[in-house]
Amino acid sequence: MNILILGGGGREHALAWAIQQNPKCDRLIVAPGNAGIARIAECAALDIEDSGAVAVFAEENAVDFVVIGPEAPLAAGVADRLAAAGILCFGPSQAAAALESSKAFTKAICDASGAPTAAYGHFTDAEAARAYVRAQGAPIVVKADGLAAGKGVIVAETLAEAEAAIDEMFGGSFGGAGAEVVIEEFMEGEEASFFVLCDGETVLPIGTAQDHKRVGEGDTGPNTGGMGAYSPAPVMTDAVCARALDEIVRPTMAEMARRGTPYRGVLYAGLMIRDGAPRLVEYNVRFGDPECQVLMMRLGGQVLDLLLACAEGRLAEARVNWADDHAMTVVMAARGYPGAYEKGSVIGGLDGLPEDSAHMVFHAGTAEAGGQVVAAGGRVLNVTARGASLEQARDRAYGMVDRIDWPGGFFRRDIGWRAL
Ligand code: AMP
Ligand code: GLY
Repeated sequence: MNILILGGGGREHALAWAIQQNPKCDRLIVAPGNAGIARIAECAALDIEDSGAVAVFAEENAVDFVVIGPEAPLAAGVADRLAAAGILCFGPSQAAAALESSKAFTKAICDASGAPTAAYGHFTDAEAARAYVRAQGAPIVVKADGLAAGKGVIVAETLAEAEAAIDEMFGGSFGGAGAEVVIEEFMEGEEASFFVLCDGETVLPIGTAQDHKRVGEGDTGPNTGGMGAYSPAPVMTDAVCARALDEIVRPTMAEMARRGTPYRGVLYAGLMIRDGAPRLVEYNVRFGDPECQVLMMRLGGQVLDLLLACAEGRLAEARVNWADDHAMTVVMAARGYPGAYEKGSVIGGLDGLPEDSAHMVFHAGTAEAGGQVVAAGGRVLNVTARGASLEQARDRAYGMVDRIDWPGGFFRRDIGWRAL
């Protein structure tokens, strides 16, 4: 079959790498793709948030199946438009994507379904929001309601910080995303990510992961999109996974179906676990980036069968075949990230690295210039490995990192420290 993947980061490189291993995949196109993806698939320039353009492109190229990587096209309704055109698509409808595109919507779904989450208030004006934080005290968490590219959450240690965040959000720093604000109780515990597929009825767990959001070693410094990840997450024991399914995921899916907006796609539940009890931090309606990279390393080619079963409503008959293995990805970023960084620095040493079922460098933000690979984003490479243990996966990943010659980049040496 002909498959189109929308997106151009490390997540989409990993999806393309896994999907392409499946014999069902004939032609594989990734839009827009990047320099690493171009080595294994066709890349196409396409405005992936323009649903009409995506549908026309899919028809013109006889695409049988579209896999949507990032949240923006989902929030823009690309899945709805493809469904209307009769093109099979992996990814939730615009209405169901509200589980990521509106934090207030998710909190209301938690209220209706009884899913445990942080206590909260929802505000449309700064004065009421400030009064709420004064009444609650710090630490407290201030969130812009809408999509803010991972920057719309402020964990405030003090009341002054919380009030500054409220002023900033209502002051328009986050554009439309900050016109409404959710303020939450600060939850303590250990964070982990739980990934399930849902076809509107059946829920199928496909793995757990933990990432490192802070830029610096020892989990210090500003937040990033993620500096590394590993799977599985030790804190997600069978018992915790079972509770997360029974208390959070299934009630959410049932409430979405009851409202006439069933959820179909991958649901990424960000959880806070304390004393074996999971609470919901947030939902994302897509694979995590870089969590997807470690999941794809572990799942391999079967992922295409799983995504197809999900899109076709056949998850009840689908099975995941797990090897008892571990995977780790180390993010290499451009110096300066998550602040200002330079583009265009040359990355050497990539050609001699192993590329097999246990080793892969996924490209997150690269371009080709004069026959060389150059940095073209903040997070640039995801050096990913699999092993029988997390130690082995780590040693393999850092073994590759150490052979990459990129003076313009940096990485954290301590990915996985909590689990190791
Ligand atoms: P989000 O963008 O919703 O994933 O939030 C970013 C990060 O902020 C999360 O990964 C958590 O580390 C933290 N966070 C968000 N909400 C809370 C909360 N209610 N309590 C504690 N930490 C939180
Ligand atoms: N790594 C976090 C995310 O994809 O949202």
